[in-house]
Amino acid sequence: MSHYIRADGRFAGRDIISVRHLSPEDLEYIFRVSHDMRMLVGRIGSFDLCRGKILANLFYEPSTRTSASFVAAMERLGGSVIGINEVHYSSVAKGESLPDTVRTLECYADVLVLRHPEVGAAAEAAKWCKKPVINAGDGVGEHPTQALLDLFTILEELGGVSGLTVTLLGDLRNGRTVHSLARLLAGYNVRLQLVSPPSLAMPAELLSELDAAGVVVETVARIEDAIPHSDVVYATRVQKERFAQLADYEAVKDAFCITPETMQKAKKKMVLLHPLPRVNEIAVEVDDDPRAAYFRQIEYGLYVRMALLAMVLGRA
Ligand code: CP
Repeated sequence: MSHYIRADGRFAGRDIISVRHLSPEDLEYIFRVSHDMRMLVGRIGSFDLCRGKILANLFYEPSTRTSASFVAAMERLGGSVIGINEVHYSSVAKGESLPDTVRTLECYADVLVLRHPEVGAAAEAAKWCKKPVINAGDGVGEHPTQALLDLFTILEELGGVSGLTVTLLGDLRNGRTVHSLARLLAGYNVRLQLVSPPSLAMPAELLSELDAAGVVVETVARIEDAIPHSDVVYATRVQKERFAQLADYEAVKDAFCITPETMQKAKKKMVLLHPLPRVNEIAVEVDDDPRAAYFRQIEYGLYVRMALLAMVLGRA
């Protein structure tokens, strides 16, 4: 095991709240450890790197992938998990505050993973928690571990990021995964194409950040016009739960759908990603296309989350 896992304590005790806090060296290190985790899981499945450590997995919003992959990651590292996936059955239902919940769980656990509907909730939790806090999605804010696994997927599938044209498609206003990914990609030499209904355009603040970072950003009205130039297409779900009026959601919910016909216009070497869950953004007939990488992307997430847990616990 020591052949693969390099000793480096730079992440021990650190919170993972926003991709903005990660330097290029941090990213290189995370991806190197993630790659090591991939190799190790392929060889031996599970190992005892985090034996004796406990993760508190606290989810105030629904999740399949993020929650399950953190559980799987901790168990493959030999640790164990306190899972609170349905906060209505916890003392949150009695009115307990986030700080009190966090200060309770830190008494039992060594690391806290938090998904919460409010922007800034993970940062707030980290203020109260002496143990490392990992943001698993805070409202329409960020989803840093998803963006890390998205970028890791691109690296593993295409061998690099520099020079790529990346198309971000769908709900660019409310999609926290796309916010974190755009910020991460700004650190690389990429060109971005943005495809969304006007009402779901990327927030102006984020566009300013990309501009300040010198990223070339082009808005394209139709995916059919963007896909021929794309090395990566990152499709996202229209986030129904973020709309105040159902009619506004209904007006845009089926704005885009990638079909086998759309894929005929794409390069032979490209990857189609989606953080999932999908609703109507990618037809199931596309799933067998070798460029459709969204189920492989889920597996890459396991390795990235194993790496992050081991790193913040000082075991990688
Ligand atoms: N990608 C993602 O965050 O999926 P879940 O909502 O299922 O965790």
